[in-house]
Amino acid sequence: MKKIELKIVFTEFDDEKELSAVEQELLQKAREASSMAYAPYSDFHVGAALLLENGIIVSGNNQENAAYPSSLCAERVAIYYAGAHYPDTAIKTIAITCRSKSFHVNEPLSPCGACRQAMSEYEIRHKSNIKVILMGETGKIRVMKSISDLLPFMFKAEELKKI
Ligand code: THU
Repeated sequence: MKKIELKIVFTEFDDEKELSAVEQELLQKAREASSMAYAPYSDFHVGAALLLENGIIVSGNNQENAAYPSSLCAERVAIYYAGAHYPDTAIKTIAITCRSKSFHVNEPLSPCGACRQAMSEYEIRHKSNIKVILMGETGKIRVMKSISDLLPFMFKAEELKKI
């Protein structure tokens, strides 16, 4: 029997002004994206902005549907847009933020498991870590250097090849 401990390192900032200029811009783009979300059922508006290695920023927001499971989270809208339009370009950083119509979000958003899985595959695809910046409407900013810090033991394509 072997007991293994897993360590995750992340950083927290009290003020977004402590982030680099481009990271502040990315958070702002995520905020702008959240304001255009289509979330009439949850009233929870999420925005995600991606910085590509060519300097381009793309963003997305959650798109809900009356058939609830047909909805899609902001992170996947943004990352699939990047995959569709810039298939060969690595993603350097993703900023994700949210706001609710019914309460004030003072904690960093925690991306759902499906989005963690989807974003992880882009790290593998481009062999490049994606830095994650998480924030609510206000409050601290949480930063991870890789999606894998959010999803250890992700399901990988190589598992499909196992016999
Ligand atoms: N949502 C996101 O867009 N990203 C997340 O990481 C968590 C949840 C959306 C899905 C749904 O439209 C709303 O937030 C409430 O769950």
